[in-house]
Amino acid sequence: MRALILSDIHANLQALQAVLAQAPPHDVVWNLGDIVGYGANPNEVIDAVRPLGTTFVRGNHDRACSGLTDVDGFNPVASRAAKWTQCVLSSEHTAWLRHLPQGPVMPAGPVSADVPANGAAVRCAHGSLLDEDEYVLSARDALHSLTGDGAAINFFGHTHLQGGFATDGEQWYRLAPDYFTRDTAETWELQLSSGARYMLNPGSVGQPRDGNWRAAFAIYDTERHTVLFCRVPYDLRSAQDAILRAGLPDRLASRLRDGR
Ligand SMILES: [Fe+2]
Repeated sequence: MRALILSDIHANLQALQAVLAQAPPHDVVWNLGDIVGYGANPNEVIDAVRPLGTTFVRGNHDRACSGLTDVDGFNPVASRAAKWTQCVLSSEHTAWLRHLPQGPVMPAGPVSADVPANGAAVRCAHGSLLDEDEYVLSARDALHSLTGDGAAINFFGHTHLQGGFATDGEQWYRLAPDYFTRDTAETWELQLSSGARYMLNPGSVGQPRDGNWRAAFAIYDTERHTVLFCRVPYDLRSAQDAILRAGLPDRLASRLRDGR
């Protein structure tokens, strides 16, 4: 079984379309949240991902843009984008966002039967496994999620940084895909070890922040026990133009080019 794992699309329709067009074959789609917020096409993005997903987790922007939580904790740019999104979202899409589950969730499908028998299961979260709003930026942050009775393989988003963390119980490792170009489609495969535990981030589809502008996603193959990290170029100019036409802050357009 192969799962396409998407996170932090952030209403970037052009990036999402490129990902869906170029993603390797897969059986299911898992979505780790922040489907909307920042970008100019929240309704179109929801229309595109809603029928694809078998597993969804809500993100902090999904909550704020659907009015579940206020935007007081957001910086001024994020707050302005969230309020704009609230205004343009259809009532149906707002209601759908409000009903997205809080992570962590166990993905739907035959995952548990496929993964090695080391007590493993798979969990999907937006932030950490303990707090949906926590940024997992270091091994120390991941420690709390990878100790105790948790799953061996965990997927998360929120940081917009592709890669993650692993431990074999003694050593801790930071995982970061190694790419060679800046503007072409590339992949980087991680062979999972059955004795290790993982916190893995597919990266952000719509607003990467690891200095790499290309849309990010991952493919988890339960039979080969691999995670394929992927980057694909997309129509950046159109995404930027849509942001500017919508009257959203210029910064939201310029940062897409920088990947910051
Ligand atoms: Fe996000």
